[in-house]
Amino acid sequence: MVLNKPSIYVTRKIPKIGLELLSSHCDITVHEGAEPPDHKKILSNIQGKDGLLCMLTDKIDAEIMNASRKLKVISSFSVGVDHIDISQATKMGIYVTHTPGVLTNATADLAFALMISAARRIPEGDENIRNNNWKGGWSPDMLLGEGVYGKTLGIIGLGRIGSALAERASGFKMKILYNNRKRSRSKEKKLNAEYRSLEDLLKESDFISLHVPLTVETHHLIDNQKLKKMKRNAILVNTSRGQIVDENDLVDTLEEGLISGAGIDVFSSEPLPRDSRISKLKNVVLTPHIGSATHHTRNLMSEISVRNLLKVLKGENPFYLFNPEVMKVKSLSSIKMF
Ligand code: DGY
Repeated sequence: MVLNKPSIYVTRKIPKIGLELLSSHCDITVHEGAEPPDHKKILSNIQGKDGLLCMLTDKIDAEIMNASRKLKVISSFSVGVDHIDISQATKMGIYVTHTPGVLTNATADLAFALMISAARRIPEGDENIRNNNWKGGWSPDMLLGEGVYGKTLGIIGLGRIGSALAERASGFKMKILYNNRKRSRSKEKKLNAEYRSLEDLLKESDFISLHVPLTVETHHLIDNQKLKKMKRNAILVNTSRGQIVDENDLVDTLEEGLISGAGIDVFSSEPLPRDSRISKLKNVVLTPHIGSATHHTRNLMSEISVRNLLKVLKGENPFYLFNPEVMKVKSLSSIKMF
């Protein structure tokens, strides 16, 4: 019998499937606004809560964690957890869960779409028609771009999403190069991928797609020095996190025509400021952080993030625990609320 229902703060209205499941077991407070709650709002709403279901737009720091002495679990509706102070959570015995796996295909699809879109200048063509600038019909030199079929794709980070991108690229008979913290012979075999040092990958690839998490090591991994190593006709794709690329260096490189283009879904500041330099460029395709934005995927993220949270409160292993070291600080059995 549940004596006190767990009390949970949910920082955005997530798809119904998760909210209904959560409210059948817990008392929930949901932030209803179209914009994310600010730090102050999270601070006041987290008080007295057993669990937090948050988004990548919420900065979850020590101050927030300390605001509820009862906080047991932070479940993020995302695969990336760079918005959460993980070491602080672990120190405090707070379980942090996330949603990898379910968004792999959606994100790999978008990375591939950005690659083709930038290479074939699809948004420029679309804009051309909508602005009534398509004069004279078909033309031998209108909107010439780059081909994708048979080209070389360099994947930085051959995890779930990077591997799913490699699978798609094999249908386009692309040569697949990869760089990863750890080399994996089994993945090389399975995906027909060749390992390269970062420097060689940058030099040899026609397309480069980023699939590493944002950490201290990957912050500005792609900067002026690295961009200069890329081919002049190369295209950079980023569906991971904006801060992995030095955005100012990327804009300078694109303005100088040192690489051909870019397809970017994530930015160093989101939403992109009105006066951002990158949105003024012709040779980029931009999307507003929509890698996982399919109905199917967001429903799955909703369900998994809720199930992760409920599992912890039931004293069971969650599906995706990001900080397993926390178990040494606080056992699941000591958390069990129902
Ligand atoms: C994530 O989950 O980290 C993606 O960036 C958005 O779904």
